[in-house]
Amino acid sequence: MLSHNINLKKENKEYTTNIYGTRYFSQPTPKFEIPEDGMPSKAAYRLIRDELNLDGNPNLNLASFVTTWMEDEAEKLIAENNGKNFVDNDEYPQTGVIHSRIVNMLAKLFNAPEDSNFTGTSTIGSSEAIMLALLAHKWYWRENRKDKNSNTLPNIVMGADVHVVWKKFAKYFDVELRMVPMEEDCYILTADKVKESIDENTIAIGVVLGTTFTGQIDEISEINKVLEDTKIVKGWDIPIHVDAASGGFVMPFINSDFEWDFRLSHVRSINVSGHKYGLVYPGIGWVIFKDAKYISEDLVFNVNYLGGVMPTFSLNFSKGSSMILAQYYNLLRLGIKGYTSIMENLMETSQYLLDKINNIGIFDFLSKELVLPIIAIKLKDEFLDCTSVFEISKMLREHGWIIPAYTLPSNAENVAVLRIVIKENFSRSMADLLVKIMKDIPKYCLSKKDNSKPISTKDSLINIY
Ligand SMILES: Cc1ncc(COP(=O)(O)O)c(C=O)c1O
Repeated sequence: MLSHNINLKKENKEYTTNIYGTRYFSQPTPKFEIPEDGMPSKAAYRLIRDELNLDGNPNLNLASFVTTWMEDEAEKLIAENNGKNFVDNDEYPQTGVIHSRIVNMLAKLFNAPEDSNFTGTSTIGSSEAIMLALLAHKWYWRENRKDKNSNTLPNIVMGADVHVVWKKFAKYFDVELRMVPMEEDCYILTADKVKESIDENTIAIGVVLGTTFTGQIDEISEINKVLEDTKIVKGWDIPIHVDAASGGFVMPFINSDFEWDFRLSHVRSINVSGHKYGLVYPGIGWVIFKDAKYISEDLVFNVNYLGGVMPTFSLNFSKGSSMILAQYYNLLRLGIKGYTSIMENLMETSQYLLDKINNIGIFDFLSKELVLPIIAIKLKDEFLDCTSVFEISKMLREHGWIIPAYTLPSNAENVAVLRIVIKENFSRSMADLLVKIMKDIPKYCLSKKDNSKPISTKDSLINIY
């Protein structure tokens, strides 16, 4: 009788309580094996959603370049198209048409010459885009070199300021990596260094518009000039690939006169992350070629098992259509004026934050001027004995802010920095809230420097805020 009652109670529970009163919340969540029985959709949703509260807050994540907010209508479009595989072009031809429109728009944004046969494709992000572009340059070099039978290893020249994907490319695709080291006061690739590093087997020069480490810009037009001169003097026709992962959706809107794109004679391919300042959720990137002739036909595979014959130039096969459509949404919704307003706001907020940080008096800004909404700072020498950027990063994390600290690559590994990436949903008042916390760091440093006053737990960096 008693056990019957308990069973009844269990049965009724499903109807008399909310999802937290059900057994799924008092039993261990399956972690190692697929459970034999499933669970109600509401329980699965809640279990996962609640566990994710342990993640950082994406809106306070100033480490990431990736978009953390989109408009409701964009989210609706994304949700409605999640089931469409982009590669099924025959089944979803209109998505393919929209994709081509975006490629056209970006080629024009990057000033591809009107009479050129520009082309491009979407990718999962800038990493895939860079790999595809560099593969195209490797094939172009191979097909156009004088001695077609030689076994010479091709090489690629870039600065130590590049993202890790460039090194991956060299390793995965058997290309000699000629990486120009940084210096303690120069964190970009300069034209002089390029001149010393190239030869007839250089497949491309990698330059960055907004480096991952400091947000600076390589000497792109000066490097282009070196390559123009080299072509005249030595006959080597070396292309530039611009990694505009973060800068490609900013620079055209804040300084359209600055020449970094297809206006430069040797720039033959450009990548940009749609999911960074293209303002779309991850993962979407783009690679645009100045002319289709730079992509060997050997790299394009025609597959016929999707209905029609479909040419593909990609590293993976299936991918979602949603982010491509979300990119088109942003381009239509914002237009040049909308993107310009957002990027100008970002630059204003970044300058505001940088001024406030400078006023704190313990940090040096790594660049001469702010060129993109990316702020890299280091501690002034006189404060290095009382704290470190790593300690500050940890302390900020305690307050919810995610700001990474790291050392620069060789030969600037003695320089440790904090990097703040400003995104569209970081307002001026958010900047004030961040500075309010950072402003107390000097107090902590002074108390530590003052030998007469021993450091108590009360004065520790974490406690002081
Ligand atoms: C300059 C640069 N290039 C490439 C990448 C890789 O981009 P994605 O994450 O879109 O693959 C990044 C990422 O931060 C980057 O900053």
